[in-house]
Amino acid sequence: MATRNLIDLNQLSLEELDDITDMACRISKHPTHYSSACRDKLMATLFYEPSTRTQMSFQSAMLRLGGKIIGFDNPGSTSVAKGESLKDTVTVLSGYTDILTIRHPVEGAAMAASLYSSVPVVNAGDGGHLHPTQTLTDVVTLRNVAGRTDNLVIGMCGDLANGRTVHSLCKCMARYGGNSFVFISTRTLAMPDYIKDYVTACGCSFSEVSTIEEAIPYLDVLYMTRIQQERFESPEEYQAQKGVFVLDGKKMALAKPDLCVLHPLPRVDEISYEVDDDPRAYYFQQTLYGMYGRMALIIRLTSEHESRQPEKPRTDSEFVCRNPKCITQLETYLPPMSIDTPKGKVCAYCEHHSH
Ligand code: CP
Repeated sequence: MATRNLIDLNQLSLEELDDITDMACRISKHPTHYSSACRDKLMATLFYEPSTRTQMSFQSAMLRLGGKIIGFDNPGSTSVAKGESLKDTVTVLSGYTDILTIRHPVEGAAMAASLYSSVPVVNAGDGGHLHPTQTLTDVVTLRNVAGRTDNLVIGMCGDLANGRTVHSLCKCMARYGGNSFVFISTRTLAMPDYIKDYVTACGCSFSEVSTIEEAIPYLDVLYMTRIQQERFESPEEYQAQKGVFVLDGKKMALAKPDLCVLHPLPRVDEISYEVDDDPRAYYFQQTLYGMYGRMALIIRLTSEHESRQPEKPRTDSEFVCRNPKCITQLETYLPPMSIDTPKGKVCAYCEHHSH
Protein backbone atom coordinates (compact mmCIF):
# COMPACT_ATOMS: atom_id res chain seq x y z
CA MET A 1 0.00 0.00 0.00
CA ALA A 2 1.34 3.45 -0.88
CA THR A 3 0.40 4.80 2.55
CA ARG A 4 0.91 3.46 6.02
CA ASN A 5 -1.98 5.49 7.46
CA LEU A 6 -5.68 5.51 6.61
CA ILE A 7 -6.91 9.09 6.96
CA ASP A 8 -9.03 9.21 3.78
CA LEU A 9 -10.13 6.04 1.96
CA ASN A 10 -9.06 7.70 -1.29
CA GLN A 11 -5.46 7.19 -0.21
CA LEU A 12 -6.04 3.62 -1.43
CA SER A 13 -6.25 2.73 -5.11
CA LEU A 14 -9.43 0.89 -6.08
CA GLU A 15 -7.27 -2.23 -6.52
CA GLU A 16 -6.00 -1.92 -2.93
CA LEU A 17 -9.52 -1.29 -1.66
CA ASP A 18 -10.78 -4.35 -3.54
CA ASP A 19 -7.93 -6.43 -2.05
CA ILE A 20 -8.98 -5.36 1.47
CA THR A 21 -12.67 -6.01 0.84
CA ASP A 22 -11.79 -9.41 -0.72
CA MET A 23 -9.90 -10.24 2.45
CA ALA A 24 -12.83 -9.05 4.59
CA CYS A 25 -15.11 -11.44 2.65
CA ARG A 26 -12.67 -14.33 3.19
CA ILE A 27 -12.43 -13.52 6.92
CA SER A 28 -16.24 -13.43 7.22
CA LYS A 29 -16.41 -16.97 5.83
CA HIS A 30 -13.52 -18.43 7.89
CA PRO A 31 -12.83 -16.11 10.86
CA THR A 32 -10.92 -18.74 12.84
CA HIS A 33 -8.29 -19.00 10.09
CA TYR A 34 -7.18 -15.50 11.11
CA SER A 35 -7.20 -15.92 14.88
CA SER A 36 -3.40 -15.51 15.17
CA ALA A 37 -2.88 -13.01 12.35
CA CYS A 38 -1.97 -10.19 14.77
CA ARG A 39 -0.49 -12.17 17.64
CA ASP A 40 1.97 -9.95 19.58
CA LYS A 41 0.51 -6.77 18.04
CA LEU A 42 -0.96 -4.03 20.23
CA MET A 43 -3.54 -1.48 19.13
CA ALA A 44 -4.43 1.79 20.89
CA THR A 45 -7.93 3.22 20.52
CA LEU A 46 -7.92 6.97 21.20
CA PHE A 47 -11.60 7.97 21.33
CA TYR A 48 -12.04 11.66 22.13
CA GLU A 49 -15.71 11.41 21.09
CA PRO A 50 -18.47 8.85 21.89
CA SER A 51 -18.75 5.69 19.79
CA THR A 52 -20.41 2.30 19.99
CA ARG A 53 -19.74 0.53 16.69
CA THR A 54 -16.42 1.96 15.57
CA GLN A 55 -14.70 1.57 18.91
CA MET A 56 -16.12 -1.87 19.73
CA SER A 57 -15.66 -3.24 16.23
CA PHE A 58 -12.01 -2.14 16.15
CA GLN A 59 -11.49 -3.72 19.56
CA SER A 60 -13.33 -6.91 18.57
CA ALA A 61 -11.40 -7.04 15.32
CA MET A 62 -7.98 -6.84 17.03
CA LEU A 63 -8.95 -9.35 19.74
CA ARG A 64 -10.31 -11.79 17.11
CA LEU A 65 -6.97 -11.51 15.29
CA GLY A 66 -5.12 -12.57 18.44
CA GLY A 67 -3.83 -9.06 19.18
CA LYS A 68 -4.23 -6.86 22.25
CA ILE A 69 -5.72 -3.44 22.89
CA ILE A 70 -5.22 -0.41 25.11
CA GLY A 71 -6.90 2.97 24.92
CA PHE A 72 -9.40 5.43 26.25
CA ASP A 73 -12.91 6.57 25.45
CA ASN A 74 -12.96 9.43 27.93
CA PRO A 75 -10.12 11.89 27.37
CA GLY A 76 -11.13 13.50 30.67
CA SER A 77 -9.59 10.51 32.45
CA THR A 78 -6.24 11.01 30.70
CA SER A 79 -3.69 13.83 30.82
CA VAL A 80 -5.68 15.56 28.08
CA ALA A 81 -7.65 16.90 31.06
CA LYS A 82 -4.40 18.55 32.27
CA GLY A 83 -3.86 20.24 28.92
CA GLU A 84 -1.77 17.63 27.07
CA SER A 85 -1.66 18.29 23.34
CA LEU A 86 -2.68 15.84 20.61
CA LYS A 87 0.94 15.79 19.45
CA ASP A 88 2.26 14.71 22.86
CA THR A 89 -0.43 12.05 23.43
CA VAL A 90 0.11 10.54 19.99
CA THR A 91 3.91 10.66 20.19
CA VAL A 92 3.84 8.75 23.48
CA LEU A 93 1.15 6.17 22.58
CA SER A 94 2.71 5.38 19.22
CA GLY A 95 5.82 4.37 21.13
CA TYR A 96 3.80 1.81 23.10
CA THR A 97 1.81 0.24 20.28
CA ASP A 98 1.77 -1.07 16.69
CA ILE A 99 -1.28 0.81 15.36
CA LEU A 100 -3.42 3.75 16.53
CA THR A 101 -7.10 4.37 15.81
CA ILE A 102 -8.34 7.85 16.60
CA ARG A 103 -11.79 9.42 16.78
CA HIS A 104 -11.93 13.14 17.45
CA PRO A 105 -14.65 15.81 17.34
CA VAL A 106 -12.44 18.23 15.39
CA GLU A 107 -11.89 18.10 11.61
CA GLY A 108 -8.41 17.09 10.52
CA ALA A 109 -7.40 15.59 13.89
CA ALA A 110 -6.46 12.20 12.42
CA MET A 111 -4.28 13.81 9.78
CA ALA A 112 -2.61 15.87 12.54
CA ALA A 113 -2.05 12.71 14.60
CA SER A 114 -0.40 10.99 11.65
CA LEU A 115 2.31 13.68 11.60
CA TYR A 116 3.55 12.60 15.02
CA SER A 117 2.97 8.85 15.04
CA SER A 118 5.68 6.31 14.39
CA VAL A 119 3.01 3.63 13.73
CA PRO A 120 0.04 3.55 11.32
CA VAL A 121 -2.85 5.88 12.21
CA VAL A 122 -6.44 5.06 11.27
CA ASN A 123 -9.04 7.82 11.14
CA ALA A 124 -12.06 6.54 13.08
CA GLY A 125 -13.97 9.78 12.37
CA ASP A 126 -12.75 13.40 12.53
CA GLY A 127 -15.58 15.83 13.30
CA GLY A 128 -17.86 16.36 10.32
CA HIS A 129 -15.04 15.60 7.87
CA LEU A 130 -14.40 11.92 7.05
CA HIS A 131 -15.01 8.40 8.37
CA PRO A 132 -13.05 6.09 6.06
CA THR A 133 -13.55 2.82 7.96
CA GLN A 134 -17.33 3.37 7.90
CA THR A 135 -16.98 3.62 4.13
CA LEU A 136 -14.92 0.42 4.12
CA THR A 137 -17.84 -1.11 6.03
CA ASP A 138 -20.29 0.22 3.43
CA VAL A 139 -18.24 -1.09 0.48
CA VAL A 140 -17.95 -4.58 2.01
CA THR A 141 -21.72 -4.51 2.66
CA LEU A 142 -22.57 -3.41 -0.90
CA ARG A 143 -20.34 -6.09 -2.40
CA ASN A 144 -22.14 -8.71 -0.33
CA VAL A 145 -25.75 -7.53 -0.48
CA ALA A 146 -26.04 -5.52 -3.72
CA GLY A 147 -23.44 -7.70 -5.48
CA ARG A 148 -21.61 -4.70 -6.93
CA THR A 149 -20.14 -1.26 -6.20
CA ASP A 150 -20.65 0.25 -9.67
CA ASN A 151 -23.66 1.32 -11.77
CA LEU A 152 -25.73 2.13 -8.70
CA VAL A 153 -28.16 4.97 -8.08
CA ILE A 154 -27.27 5.96 -4.52
CA GLY A 155 -29.55 8.14 -2.41
CA MET A 156 -28.11 9.84 0.67
CA CYS A 157 -30.55 11.35 3.13
CA GLY A 158 -30.37 13.48 6.25
CA ASP A 159 -27.53 15.62 7.60
CA LEU A 160 -25.37 15.75 4.50
CA ALA A 161 -23.63 18.94 5.70
CA ASN A 162 -22.17 17.45 8.87
CA GLY A 163 -22.27 13.73 8.07
CA ARG A 164 -18.70 12.47 7.74
CA THR A 165 -20.00 9.05 6.68
CA VAL A 166 -21.69 10.42 3.56
CA HIS A 167 -18.69 12.60 2.70
CA SER A 168 -16.36 9.59 2.77
CA LEU A 169 -18.87 7.37 0.96
CA CYS A 170 -19.42 9.90 -1.84
CA LYS A 171 -15.69 10.36 -2.39
CA CYS A 172 -15.25 6.60 -2.60
CA MET A 173 -18.29 5.61 -4.70
CA ALA A 174 -17.64 8.38 -7.24
CA ARG A 175 -14.49 6.47 -8.24
CA TYR A 176 -16.46 3.39 -9.32
CA GLY A 177 -17.90 3.55 -12.86
CA GLY A 178 -21.51 4.43 -13.54
CA ASN A 179 -22.60 5.46 -10.05
CA SER A 180 -24.92 8.46 -9.66
CA PHE A 181 -26.15 10.23 -6.54
CA VAL A 182 -29.37 11.73 -5.22
CA PHE A 183 -28.83 14.02 -2.22
CA ILE A 184 -31.95 14.25 -0.04
CA SER A 185 -31.73 17.03 2.54
CA THR A 186 -32.93 20.44 3.63
CA ARG A 187 -31.08 23.42 2.16
CA THR A 188 -29.35 24.01 5.49
CA LEU A 189 -27.98 20.47 5.60
CA ALA A 190 -27.04 20.14 1.92
CA MET A 191 -23.95 18.24 0.76
CA PRO A 192 -20.87 20.55 0.88
CA ASP A 193 -19.66 22.02 -2.41
CA TYR A 194 -16.25 20.36 -2.16
CA ILE A 195 -17.88 16.93 -2.20
CA LYS A 196 -20.19 17.88 -5.11
CA ASP A 197 -17.15 19.22 -7.00
CA TYR A 198 -15.34 15.94 -6.39
CA VAL A 199 -18.29 13.89 -7.66
CA THR A 200 -18.48 16.03 -10.81
CA ALA A 201 -14.73 15.82 -11.38
CA CYS A 202 -15.05 12.02 -11.30
CA GLY A 203 -17.62 12.22 -14.12
CA CYS A 204 -20.60 11.23 -11.94
CA SER A 205 -23.95 13.01 -11.94
CA PHE A 206 -25.92 14.09 -8.88
CA SER A 207 -29.27 15.70 -8.14
CA GLU A 208 -30.61 17.35 -4.99
CA VAL A 209 -34.18 16.84 -3.74
CA SER A 210 -36.07 17.71 -0.57
CA THR A 211 -38.23 14.59 0.01
CA ILE A 212 -37.61 10.85 0.26
CA GLU A 213 -40.78 10.14 -1.75
CA GLU A 214 -39.57 11.79 -4.95
CA ALA A 215 -36.26 9.87 -4.94
CA ILE A 216 -36.97 6.43 -3.49
CA PRO A 217 -38.60 4.76 -6.54
CA TYR A 218 -35.37 5.21 -8.56
CA LEU A 219 -32.80 4.18 -5.96
CA ASP A 220 -30.65 1.03 -5.73
CA VAL A 221 -29.22 2.15 -2.38
CA LEU A 222 -30.72 4.46 0.25
CA TYR A 223 -28.17 5.61 2.81
CA MET A 224 -30.00 7.17 5.76
CA THR A 225 -28.20 9.34 8.34
CA ARG A 226 -29.19 11.00 11.57
CA ILE A 227 -29.24 14.75 12.12
CA GLN A 228 -25.98 15.35 14.01
CA GLN A 229 -27.13 17.23 17.10
CA GLU A 230 -23.58 17.62 18.41
CA ARG A 231 -22.48 19.63 15.33
CA PHE A 232 -25.06 22.46 15.71
CA GLU A 233 -24.21 25.83 17.24
CA SER A 234 -27.48 25.99 19.25
CA PRO A 235 -30.37 23.70 20.36
CA GLU A 236 -32.76 25.89 18.30
CA GLU A 237 -30.86 25.21 15.07
CA TYR A 238 -31.01 21.47 15.76
CA GLN A 239 -34.74 21.58 16.58
CA ALA A 240 -35.40 23.27 13.22
CA GLN A 241 -33.83 20.31 11.36
CA LYS A 242 -34.79 17.31 13.47
CA GLY A 243 -37.48 14.87 12.36
CA VAL A 244 -37.75 16.20 8.78
CA PHE A 245 -36.81 12.87 7.16
CA VAL A 246 -38.30 9.61 8.43
CA LEU A 247 -38.16 6.37 6.43
CA ASP A 248 -41.24 4.26 7.23
CA GLY A 249 -43.20 1.38 5.74
CA LYS A 250 -45.30 3.67 3.57
CA LYS A 251 -42.25 5.12 1.87
CA MET A 252 -40.63 1.66 1.55
CA ALA A 253 -43.74 0.61 -0.43
CA LEU A 254 -42.62 3.06 -3.17
CA ALA A 255 -39.15 1.49 -3.48
CA LYS A 256 -37.67 -1.15 -5.79
CA PRO A 257 -37.88 -4.75 -4.53
CA ASP A 258 -34.09 -4.94 -4.41
CA LEU A 259 -33.43 -1.58 -2.73
CA CYS A 260 -30.63 -1.78 -0.18
CA VAL A 261 -31.25 0.42 2.90
CA LEU A 262 -28.07 1.26 4.81
CA HIS A 263 -27.40 3.46 7.84
CA PRO A 264 -24.06 3.92 9.64
CA LEU A 265 -25.99 4.05 12.97
CA PRO A 266 -26.67 5.25 15.60
CA ARG A 267 -30.30 5.82 14.59
CA VAL A 268 -32.39 8.46 16.34
CA ASP A 269 -35.79 8.77 14.64
CA GLU A 270 -34.99 8.74 10.92
CA ILE A 271 -35.89 5.06 10.34
CA SER A 272 -39.10 3.71 11.89
CA TYR A 273 -38.64 0.47 13.78
CA GLU A 274 -41.16 -1.22 11.45
CA VAL A 275 -38.56 -0.98 8.64
CA ASP A 276 -36.17 -3.24 10.60
CA ASP A 277 -38.23 -6.28 9.55
CA ASP A 278 -38.17 -5.36 5.85
CA PRO A 279 -35.73 -7.70 4.00
CA ARG A 280 -34.31 -4.62 2.24
CA ALA A 281 -33.04 -3.20 5.57
CA TYR A 282 -29.36 -4.16 5.85
CA TYR A 283 -28.10 -1.78 8.55
CA PHE A 284 -27.54 -4.40 11.22
CA GLN A 285 -25.72 -6.77 8.84
CA GLN A 286 -23.67 -3.69 7.89
CA THR A 287 -22.27 -3.46 11.43
CA LEU A 288 -20.97 -7.03 11.20
CA TYR A 289 -19.32 -6.38 7.83
CA GLY A 290 -17.65 -3.42 9.54
CA MET A 291 -15.84 -5.71 11.95
CA TYR A 292 -14.60 -7.97 9.12
CA GLY A 293 -13.50 -4.93 7.10
CA ARG A 294 -11.56 -3.58 10.08
CA MET A 295 -9.94 -7.01 10.66
CA ALA A 296 -8.70 -6.95 7.06
CA LEU A 297 -7.45 -3.37 7.40
CA ILE A 298 -5.58 -4.07 10.65
CA ILE A 299 -3.85 -7.10 9.10
CA ARG A 300 -2.85 -5.04 6.08
CA LEU A 301 -1.52 -2.02 7.98
CA THR A 302 0.31 -3.90 10.72
CA SER A 303 1.91 -6.43 8.38
CA GLU A 304 3.37 -3.69 6.16
CA HIS A 305 4.60 -1.47 8.93
CA GLU A 306 8.27 -1.17 9.70
CA SER A 307 9.21 1.07 12.59
CA ARG A 308 10.19 4.48 11.24
CA GLN A 309 10.10 8.15 12.08
CA PRO A 310 6.95 10.11 11.31
CA GLU A 311 6.96 11.69 7.84
CA LYS A 312 8.02 15.33 7.64
CA PRO A 313 4.98 17.50 6.82
CA ARG A 314 4.90 19.47 3.54
CA THR A 315 4.40 22.88 5.09
CA ASP A 316 2.94 25.93 3.32
CA SER A 317 3.74 28.92 5.50
CA GLU A 318 1.55 31.20 3.33
CA PHE A 319 -1.60 29.12 3.88
CA VAL A 320 -4.16 30.05 6.55
CA CYS A 321 -7.13 27.75 7.21
CA ARG A 322 -10.22 29.77 8.11
CA ASN A 323 -12.40 26.79 9.03
CA PRO A 324 -13.30 27.33 12.73
CA LYS A 325 -13.81 23.56 13.07
CA CYS A 326 -10.29 22.70 11.84
CA ILE A 327 -7.76 21.11 14.19
CA THR A 328 -5.25 23.87 13.31
CA GLN A 329 -7.44 26.32 15.27
CA LEU A 330 -7.19 24.18 18.41
CA GLU A 331 -3.66 22.78 18.24
CA THR A 332 -1.89 25.93 17.15
CA TYR A 333 1.63 24.40 16.87
CA LEU A 334 0.50 22.42 13.79
CA PRO A 335 2.32 23.45 10.61
CA PRO A 336 0.07 25.02 7.95
CA MET A 337 -0.30 22.57 5.07
CA SER A 338 -2.24 22.80 1.82
CA ILE A 339 -3.24 20.68 -1.16
CA ASP A 340 -3.65 22.07 -4.69
CA THR A 341 -7.05 21.42 -6.29
CA PRO A 342 -8.55 22.67 -9.59
CA LYS A 343 -10.44 25.28 -7.52
CA GLY A 344 -7.38 26.46 -5.58
CA LYS A 345 -5.61 25.47 -2.39
CA VAL A 346 -7.43 23.59 0.36
CA CYS A 347 -6.30 22.84 3.91
CA ALA A 348 -4.50 19.48 4.02
CA TYR A 349 -6.10 18.70 7.39
CA CYS A 350 -9.80 19.52 6.82
CA GLU A 351 -10.05 20.15 3.02
CA HIS A 352 -11.61 23.60 3.40
CA HIS A 353 -10.72 26.37 0.96
CA SER A 354 -8.65 29.23 2.35
CA HIS A 355 -11.16 31.89 1.20
N1 CP B 1 -21.15 4.31 12.55
C1 CP B 1 -20.50 4.83 13.63
O1 CP B 1 -19.50 5.51 13.48
O2 CP B 1 -21.07 4.51 14.82
P1 CP B 1 -20.45 4.91 16.24
O3 CP B 1 -20.49 6.42 16.32
O4 CP B 1 -21.30 4.24 17.24
O5 CP B 1 -19.02 4.44 16.24
